[in-house]
Amino acid sequence: MRSIFVTRKLPENSLGRLAGHFALTIWQDETPPNRSDLLEKVAGKDALLCLLTDTIDQAVIEAGSKLRVISNYAVGYDNIDVEAATKMGIPVGNTPDVLTETTADLAFALIAAAARRIPEGMSYAREGRWKTWSPTLLLGTDLHRATLGIVGMGRIGRAMARRARGFSMTVLYSDPGAAPGLEGAEKVPLESLLERSDLVSLHAPLTDETRHMIDDGALKAMKRHAVLVNTARGALVDHEALHRALAEGIIQAAALDVTDPEPLPADHPLHELPNCLIIPHLGSATLATRTKMAQIAVRNLLAGLEGRRLPHCVNPEVYEKK
Ligand code: DGY
Repeated sequence: MRSIFVTRKLPENSLGRLAGHFALTIWQDETPPNRSDLLEKVAGKDALLCLLTDTIDQAVIEAGSKLRVISNYAVGYDNIDVEAATKMGIPVGNTPDVLTETTADLAFALIAAAARRIPEGMSYAREGRWKTWSPTLLLGTDLHRATLGIVGMGRIGRAMARRARGFSMTVLYSDPGAAPGLEGAEKVPLESLLERSDLVSLHAPLTDETRHMIDDGALKAMKRHAVLVNTARGALVDHEALHRALAEGIIQAAALDVTDPEPLPADHPLHELPNCLIIPHLGSATLATRTKMAQIAVRNLLAGLEGRRLPHCVNPEVYEKK
């Protein structure tokens, strides 16, 4: 019987169709397997279903020398050394499309929350500081007719641009690989996007080129009332630079669904800033979407085990080698 290691419990009965047909090992803890657990559990397995919290580097891939497939339960796959997997002839799967709209919904919710200072308002009301209506209380930035800058015009970036129409926004985007004129928006260089946008939303993948793309210089280029939202990957933003920018009023606010590291320690200085909203990587967190992601991850897993092409493969070049 073929064997599978799944690094966490998935929602609903997503793995039901595997039971009975495969020797299934599912990591039961709430927290991810540590490195030595991962190395031990992957050894001798035919397939691995992992999460973005699992670092699947060359050593793990080599420890899983029998692996026929690595199926990542995420659209992003910066947690996996894809090059090493390709060298070993292992296809790597991801879960695109099904989380596009859900993640864009959350990014828009964060834009609204940070721009209109909703978390600050909640604390203000809850802490008994609300004594009267005030003309100057917690003034924020308008969403309607604002200029939204989308960094990374992939599926989620385009879903953001579609939503922006409902708010009569002007939409700019920067993405070296994207065609001009997508979704009726204007393609501009990053510098110009940062200078012109009231709201900046990050949707780029994490690569060597994009790591810390939002640094001191980028933040200084932004408007003073600008709001930065990150629902992509934490390391796109230099967190020390962001702390300086928020503390010194270089930008108005930030909302982070993703941080570097994850989880962001509870005593991290960013948590102390009232203009920094942080939530625990919830972009795709609806039952419907997480269930669909699991279905795709299982489909990728089964295809790999049966020697078929993965429906969603991030290293199709692996098939050219075979
Ligand atoms: C992904 O799939 O890459 C997301 O970050 C998880 O929601």
